[in-house]
Amino acid sequence: MAIEIEQASSVELSNIANSETHGEDSPYFAGWKAYDENPYDEFHNSTGVIQMGLAENQVSFDLLEEYLENHSEAVSWGKKTPSFRENALFQDYHGLQSFRKAMATKFNPDRVVLTAGATAANELLTFILANPGDALLVPTPYYPGFDRDIRWRTGVQIVPIHCDSSNNFQITPKALEAAYEDATSKNMKVRGVLITNPSNPLGATIQRKVLEQVLDFATAKNIHLVSDEIYSGSAFYASEFISIAEVLAARNYKESERVHIVYSLSKDLGLPGFRVGTIYSYNDKVVTTARRMSSFTLISSQTQHLLAAMLSDETFTENYIRENRKRLRTRYEMIIKGLRRSGIECLEGNAGLFCWMNLSPLLEKNTRECELELWTSILKEVKLNISPGSSCHCSEAGWFRVCFANMSEQTLDIALNRIRVFMEKRNNKIHA
Ligand SMILES: Cc1ncc(COP(=O)(O)O)c(C=O)c1O
Repeated sequence: MAIEIEQASSVELSNIANSETHGEDSPYFAGWKAYDENPYDEFHNSTGVIQMGLAENQVSFDLLEEYLENHSEAVSWGKKTPSFRENALFQDYHGLQSFRKAMATKFNPDRVVLTAGATAANELLTFILANPGDALLVPTPYYPGFDRDIRWRTGVQIVPIHCDSSNNFQITPKALEAAYEDATSKNMKVRGVLITNPSNPLGATIQRKVLEQVLDFATAKNIHLVSDEIYSGSAFYASEFISIAEVLAARNYKESERVHIVYSLSKDLGLPGFRVGTIYSYNDKVVTTARRMSSFTLISSQTQHLLAAMLSDETFTENYIRENRKRLRTRYEMIIKGLRRSGIECLEGNAGLFCWMNLSPLLEKNTRECELELWTSILKEVKLNISPGSSCHCSEAGWFRVCFANMSEQTLDIALNRIRVFMEKRNNKIHA
């Protein structure tokens, strides 16, 4: 029997424990709870909530399973190198050399720092680049987890770079400048810009011209530029994704010491449970400090061993990346077509595991309150958990992020059907 412990309210905890800046009280996480309480299941709970608020990639699991079936050496331990004993004792925070090399691909493995996912990578970088009270500029709408990862334990502030639908939510020099002025007018020291490319929640890659403008801005202000490229392998067409690394290469790595790239296997390989992330920095001091800090957030040597084998198999990786892009593109087209049939438009996307859906025509007024009312009825009546734009700090009401890769095609079909019925009911009400 569980022991009930009476909670004494007079015992004090730290400021971090008492802080509300973790962001977990947002509808983004509330929707997950609603799903957990009543999850959809094709056979056992066909009226349950369908989870479309989780950016998980399950479309290529069969390829990973097939690899594991055919490569038992990746998951088993022998007495030969690397033996069970070697790996059980391994604790070098540089990580297994074979794994760092496999993760680095074309990059320099000596600049790769391993972390337990991009969550840890983003927090760790923030600890290194900024002091409590300083600001990082982040374009909106942004991934709701940034409130926790960037702000909560570091005490660093996020100052929004407001982007809107007038130019498809692209970052502009004017918006960058306005955010900088906003921060300095509040006496914050701006330490850097953090972009996500391809963007979450927009599901679109950032154009080269925009990347150049952001780098020019960071250079002019003498601040850092962090590029979270966690969805880079999920850009549907490889040629449409341009890494900040390519922009630096074209400039002969001028100003590269202010640039840091975050990556993880959570999205492209669909392995968030494995907790594998990296920081790639062109700044020696950042690499050294990040490596020291990575002691708090290492990847198990067993996971490194498995993935070192998988990722250094070029035939597997090339086929996986090609096939995964193709399947995500097919899914994206399926959801876009289904929504359009219900009269709903999305921002034109070319990447990621979600689309950015415009339901603003359904709002009575263009306010956050009306957006949340609509979100609640979609969650309660339609039984779909999607993420309202306000949870991503979007400055325009009526936009929602809808994930499409964490379920089967059949479930996506059911979700689209539920939306169609909901839209028909709404239209009938208006015309009645
Ligand atoms: C932009 C972005 N960064 C970081 C993360 C966290 O990823 P990880 O599972 O590697 O910690 C996510 C996950 O949704 C994300 O969308």
